[in-house]
Amino acid sequence: MRAAVLTAHGQPPSAADHPDPRPGPGQAVVRMTAAPVVPLDLLCATGTSYFGPPPLPYVPGVQGVGRVEQSSRLPAGTRVFVSTSAGMAPGDGSMAELCVAGEDDLVPLEDGVPDDAAAAIGLSGIAAWMALTWRAGLRERERVVVLGAGGAVGQVGVGAAVALGAGRVVAVCRGEAARQRALAAGAAAAVAFSDDVDRLAGELADALGGDADVVLDPVFGAGATAAGRVLAEGGRLVNLGGAAGDTASFSSALLRSRTASVLGYTNNALSAAQKGEALTAVLRHASAGRIGVASETLPIAEAEQAWRRQAAGTGGVRLVLTP
Ligand SMILES: NC(=O)c1ccc[n+]([C@@H]2O[C@H](COP(=O)([O-])OP(=O)(O)OC[C@H]3O[C@@H](n4cnc5c(N)ncnc54)[C@H](OP(=O)(O)O)[C@@H]3O)[C@@H](O)[C@H]2O)c1
Repeated sequence: MRAAVLTAHGQPPSAADHPDPRPGPGQAVVRMTAAPVVPLDLLCATGTSYFGPPPLPYVPGVQGVGRVEQSSRLPAGTRVFVSTSAGMAPGDGSMAELCVAGEDDLVPLEDGVPDDAAAAIGLSGIAAWMALTWRAGLRERERVVVLGAGGAVGQVGVGAAVALGAGRVVAVCRGEAARQRALAAGAAAAVAFSDDVDRLAGELADALGGDADVVLDPVFGAGATAAGRVLAEGGRLVNLGGAAGDTASFSSALLRSRTASVLGYTNNALSAAQKGEALTAVLRHASAGRIGVASETLPIAEAEQAWRRQAAGTGGVRLVLTP
């Protein structure tokens, strides 16, 4: 089959012929139509992630959309979202014509959202949804800050917070395109990201018209430090990524005085059922136009360019490979 094949840690994959994957016990085969290039793919491929260096060569891709080719659970032809552990454990992933995954890692998809758009939302959408609902316990009318609103997690986060009935959603992002997308998705205000923590915290308080009950944080660093200063009584900051840095500062006095919480989140803690339910919920909102992730679709032949563009920062456009 044709696939994006990675032969050296820290280098992009390139399109090549690769042996068809063979399913083991409890595994299904999916004919892929769309596989996004995401930060986790790049992190794992460096060989420096906390999962350890993946054996080479391998096909990266922790997720995608396709049709069931062979399964003991689902009829052939079923349209599914698939997640894999490529890069986190030995084995190939989704950036290929065929992909093997655990039967439990297939989520049948309802109609309504095209393959590439569903793939662009994917695990980032699941993370944003579950961080808001399951981890933060977002309630109607609460005020929400979405950091990194230009990225896929942030784009879903803004739309999901609005759809879940948040009282006021304030986006923090870097580019003008991201700002416009956040406002179009229902954010009441979009604040420009700044490494100046005092300034960013002040602008957040102004935009919120008060404190934040929930902060959705895929960036950490200065963004989390600033948002931590405007947490409300009982406020929850949920961190799910470190795009801007691996450390942030929080005041003990502030956390104690407001009974505020700083929480970690990973999709890896979810059951297969939780992942499936979250993706189904997000895609129903996407189908109704309430949630979306800007994307661009490229052939697998351009995997190397797509990988380099993701590494350089793509301006909030999720790059999706199609065989
Ligand atoms: N815990 C989980 O289960 C889980 C699941 C999915 C993703 N994640 C993590 O969440 C993070 C975002 O994922 P994604 O899918 O949204 O990625 P993405 O679409 O590539 O977006 C990258 C994000 O990083 C922000 N960013 C990058 N460098 C920055 C910097 N120096 N300062 C401030 N912001 C910066 C961007 O901000 P702008 O708004 O300015 O464009 C954008 O929000 C990644 O670290 C990813 O690994 C975690």
